[in-house]
Amino acid sequence: MKHISEERKEILLRRYGSKSPGAGPGGMKMPGPGGPRPGGPGGPRGAMGGGKPKNTSATINRLLAYIGRDKYKILLVFACVLGSTLTSLAGSYILRPVINNLVSADRSAGEKVGNLAVGILTMAAIYFVGILCSYLQQRIMIGVSQNALIRIREELFHKLQKLPVKYHDTHTHGDIMSRFTNDLDSVGEMLNNTLSQIFSGILTLVGTIILMFVTNWILAIVIIVTIPFLVYMAGTLGKLSRKYYKGQQQALGAVNGYIEETVSGQKVIKVFCHEETTMGEFEFLSDDLRSKQRKAQFFGGIMGPVMGNLSQISYALSATVGGILCLTSNFDIGGLTIFTNYSRQFSRPINELSMQMNTIFAALAGAERVFEVMDEPSEVPDPEDAIEICAEANRVPGARIIRGEVALKNVTFGYVPDKTILKHINVTAEPGQKIAFVGSTGAGKTTITNLINRFYEIEEGQISIDGIDIKKIRKDSLRGNIAMVLQDTHLFSGTVRENIRYGRLDATDEEVIAAAKIASAHSFIERLSDGYDTVLDGDGSNLSQGERQLLNIARAAISKAPILILDEATSSVDTRTEKHIERGMDRLMKNRTTFVIAHRLSTVRNSNLIIVLEHGEIVEQGTHEELLAMGGRYYQLYTGAVELD
Ligand SMILES: Nc1ncnc2c1ncn2[C@@H]1O[C@H](COP(=O)(O)OP(=O)(O)OP(=O)(O)O)[C@@H](O)[C@H]1O
Ligand SMILES: [Mg+2]
Repeated sequence: MKHISEERKEILLRRYGSKSPGAGPGGMKMPGPGGPRPGGPGGPRGAMGGGKPKNTSATINRLLAYIGRDKYKILLVFACVLGSTLTSLAGSYILRPVINNLVSADRSAGEKVGNLAVGILTMAAIYFVGILCSYLQQRIMIGVSQNALIRIREELFHKLQKLPVKYHDTHTHGDIMSRFTNDLDSVGEMLNNTLSQIFSGILTLVGTIILMFVTNWILAIVIIVTIPFLVYMAGTLGKLSRKYYKGQQQALGAVNGYIEETVSGQKVIKVFCHEETTMGEFEFLSDDLRSKQRKAQFFGGIMGPVMGNLSQISYALSATVGGILCLTSNFDIGGLTIFTNYSRQFSRPINELSMQMNTIFAALAGAERVFEVMDEPSEVPDPEDAIEICAEANRVPGARIIRGEVALKNVTFGYVPDKTILKHINVTAEPGQKIAFVGSTGAGKTTITNLINRFYEIEEGQISIDGIDIKKIRKDSLRGNIAMVLQDTHLFSGTVRENIRYGRLDATDEEVIAAAKIASAHSFIERLSDGYDTVLDGDGSNLSQGERQLLNIARAAISKAPILILDEATSSVDTRTEKHIERGMDRLMKNRTTFVIAHRLSTVRNSNLIIVLEHGEIVEQGTHEELLAMGGRYYQLYTGAVELD
C-alpha cells in the first residue's frame, strides 16, 4: 500500500466524509445485528455529520404533520397498540388464578382440571385478540408511514424541479442523491416501526407498574427502586453506542463518497495510472470504517444482553422478597409467579426504547436534510400579471405575439457578490438576426445565455424581448420561446425519437426526421441498430460526443421557438460535418433570432453581428469583414496571431 500523507488523509476524511456536504450518495446498508440496529441507513449525512439533528422539536412536528394527514388511521393504530398491550398484560394477569387453582389445597383434581381448562381457554382467547390487534396495528401503520414517505418524496422531487439553476450549480449530485436515498430511507425506517413501538413501550411500562402495585405494593416499591438504575445504564450505553454509531456513519459516508468518485472517474484513474494510489486510499478509508464500525457494533450489540442481565437482578430481588412475603404473609404463589414475570417484563420497554434511539436520531437528521432542501427558496415566482408570449407560427390564445427582438441594456452580473462577471453589456438583436459571441474561455459567453432565459436573475440592467422586460414574462413562456443547445449535452434514457421529441412533445414522426435532417443527424441515426427506435443509455453513452451534439441540435430544431441559442453546439463535430450542418442550420435560423457561441470562428463568419467579449466586457463588435479590417482582438483570434505573453 502506498504511503498516504497526513494531509491527504485529512482531505480524504473531510472531502468524502460527513464534514463535507458534497459526499456521495452512499446506499450501503449496515448488516443489522440480531439485537439493536446500530447500522440503520448508510451513507453520508452531509454537514449534519450523521449525528444529532439541530432543531429536533420542529423536525418532529413537521414529520408528524405528514403522518397527521391520516389521523383516523393513526387513532386506529393507537387503539390497536392499546389493545395488544392490554391483552398482553391481562393474559399474564390471568395466570395468577390459574396457578392458585393448581396449588390450592381444598379443590378436587377434577375441579382443578376443569378450572385449568377454562383458564387456558380464556388466555388463548385474550392472546388471540392481542395477535389480531398487533396484526392490524402493523398493517395500518405501514400504510400510514408509506403514505407519508411518498408525500415527502414527491414533495422533495417537486421542489427539485422548482429550485433555481443556482442550487444545482452549487450542490453536488451526490449530496442531492443522498437526500433521496439514505435520508428518506432512515425517515421511513422510523415511521414504520418507531412510533408504534414508543407508544406500546410506554403503555407496557405504565401497565406493568400498575399491575405490580395491584398484585403486591410492597414488592412493587422494591422493584420500582431499581428503575433509575436501569434507566441510567440504558442511557449510558445508549450514549456510547450513539457516539460510535455516529463515527461509523461518517466513515461509511467517506467510503461511499470515495467509491462514487472512483467509479465516475475510472477512465481518468486509468489514464494517469492511479490505480495503486486509489486502492491505497480506499484501504485507508475502509480501515477507518472497520475500526469505527467495530466499536459501534460492539456497544450496540452488548446493549441487549447487558440490559437483559441487569433485569435479572430485579427478577432475583422480586423472587427473594416475594418468597419471604409468601412465607410470612398471605401473598399467594400465583401472585408471586406473575410478579416475577412482571419484573422481567417491565425492563423490556426501557431496553427497546433506548435501542430505538439510533434509528430515531438517524431519521431526524435525515428528515432535517430533506426539509433543508424543501425550505430552499424556489425560482423567483412569476408576478400575478405575468405576460405570456408566443411567436406567430406558434399561436397561443391570449399570448402576446413577439417577433423575437432581444435587447440587453447595460447588463451587469456576477454569480457571487463582489465578483462581477459581465460588465455593462449592451446588445440588440433584431428579429431574425444572427448574433455571435466570441471570446476566450471564461469570458462570459455562456453567462449571457444563462441570463437571457433567466437561469440567473440580473440585478443591474435590463433584458427585454420585443420591448417586454423578461422579468414580466412567465418563465415557462419565456423558456418555451427560446430553443437552446446547451454547452453540456444531455440526453435522457429512452429512444432517439423520444430524445428529439423532447424539444416539442406534439411533434409528428415526420417532424422528428426533418429535425434530424437539419441537424445532419439523420444518416448516423439510420445506421444505428434500431434507427430512430434505438434506446439510448443514460446520457447517450453509447454515442460519440459529436453524435450527442447532433441530437441536441435536432432537439432544438424541432422546436418552433422564435429565439435560438447555440452554445458551442458543434464543438465536437468534425469540420466536414459542421459544414454540412451549416446548410441545415441556415434553414433553422431563418426567421429566428439566433445567438451563436463558437470557438471555431469559421462557423460565425456569416453572422449579422459578431461581439467579442473579454473578461465580461464587449471589446469589439461588427461584422466579420469589419472586425478583420480592424485588426484587433477578433483578427488575432481568427488568424491565430495571438502574441504569447
Ligand atoms: N455557476 C457559476 N458560479 C460561479 N461562477 C461561475 C459559474 N459559471 C461560470 N462561472 C464563472 O463565470 C465566468 C464566465 O463563465 P462562462 O461559462 O460564461 O464562460 P464562457 O465564456 O462560456 O467560457 P467557455 O468558452 O469556456 O465556455 C468564468 O470565470 C467562470 O468561472
Ligand atoms: Mg461557455
